[in-house]
Amino acid sequence: MLITGTVIADPDTVIDDGAVVVADGEIVAVGEADALHETYPDHERRAFDLVAPGLVGGHVHSVQSLGRGIADDAELLDWLFEAVLPMEAAMDAEATRAAAELGYLECLESGTTTVVDHLSVNHAAEAFEAAIETGIRGRLGKVLMDKESPDGLREPTDAGLAETESLIGEYHGAADGRIRYAVTPRFAVTCTEACLRGCREIADAHDGVTIHTHASENKGEIATVEADTGKRNVHWLDEVGLTGPDVTLAHCVHTDESEREVLAETDTVVTHCPSSNMKLASGIAPVHDYLDRGITVALGNDGPPCNNTLDPFTEMRQASLLGKVDALDPTRLPAPTVLEMATVNGARAAGFDRIGRLEPGYEADLIGLTTEKTRATPIHDPLSHLVYAAHGDDVVFTMVSGEVRYDDGEHVGIDADAVR
Ligand code: GUN
Ligand code: FE
Repeated sequence: MLITGTVIADPDTVIDDGAVVVADGEIVAVGEADALHETYPDHERRAFDLVAPGLVGGHVHSVQSLGRGIADDAELLDWLFEAVLPMEAAMDAEATRAAAELGYLECLESGTTTVVDHLSVNHAAEAFEAAIETGIRGRLGKVLMDKESPDGLREPTDAGLAETESLIGEYHGAADGRIRYAVTPRFAVTCTEACLRGCREIADAHDGVTIHTHASENKGEIATVEADTGKRNVHWLDEVGLTGPDVTLAHCVHTDESEREVLAETDTVVTHCPSSNMKLASGIAPVHDYLDRGITVALGNDGPPCNNTLDPFTEMRQASLLGKVDALDPTRLPAPTVLEMATVNGARAAGFDRIGRLEPGYEADLIGLTTEKTRATPIHDPLSHLVYAAHGDDVVFTMVSGEVRYDDGEHVGIDADAVR
């Protein structure tokens, strides 16, 4: 397929009359449309206003997709223990499958082609199956909770770790490598030391398996971890082996100088979730400081009950606006930086080498957008448009691994109406 439009190949490369050529699931050429039309005269053609890399949701909870409105106007620990955990505890296999499918379809139709997905304790296999069925790329993991957790979610340490091993055997590398596993302890508040250390052992024992958890999102959470362990949250995670280049920590809103040094030295990936941090009033993450230190910062929508949308464009815009207000400097977190967070840095959070850019040899994960809805506004700068003006609704075409998954308002390869 030869896909034309203004091609935003990566945060530094825009080709005005560009084209991307896709064959066998990969990008084989990116360049000027005229030249590529000549080189590839027989390829099926598609034209969009803008063509961009598929965006990466560096921290989502697809299984919380049915929970919008259950816990508005609350802070993290109340929100979690009074509404969200009881919801997850009550979900059966069917509800888990439906929630995950709806979440993935919403991602695909609004421009997210890869998710780093924090599932639930129960019925994780249903979400893996949903990811395979919908065609999204994903780094998924069953959640581990072995203390301070409600009935229905708390599991014996060994049972959770054993199920993790068995899910890795079943799903890590599934769907031609599109699905990979992240060992997923919920957070230090609900996981014993044995559980956290067990997570590191499992990740080390399986090639390409990573670790994904929440860290330092809210002051009450941090105080709880400190009361339990005598340590700041990031120091505790570091001590039990949960920092490093294969670890993605969601949030990291409240970290002190020494914790930031640990994140930088260990090359741990942070996923910034600005909408969630605002809605739960968790705080403003020190993204400028992280980036200045060379820490890789990705972007995530977090769960629908703490955000109400899985639209990655909302998240890019919120990240940029919050960054500007935080610094009282309009030059901070400009469009190229937040696009980098949602693509190249997201690829690191997700642990996939060949996604996040439109480049020959990369996976053909891309989106096509219309600018029709903003026709009255000339598009002076495509990157600026993507970050400051575009919405998930402007996405008209989504491809993952060369497979078209969403086209002109319709999901492809799945009966989305039946899911809904
Ligand atoms: N920390 C532990 N669990 C959760 C969760 O489900 N959502 C958010 N935002 N933070 C968490
Ligand atoms: Fe989360």
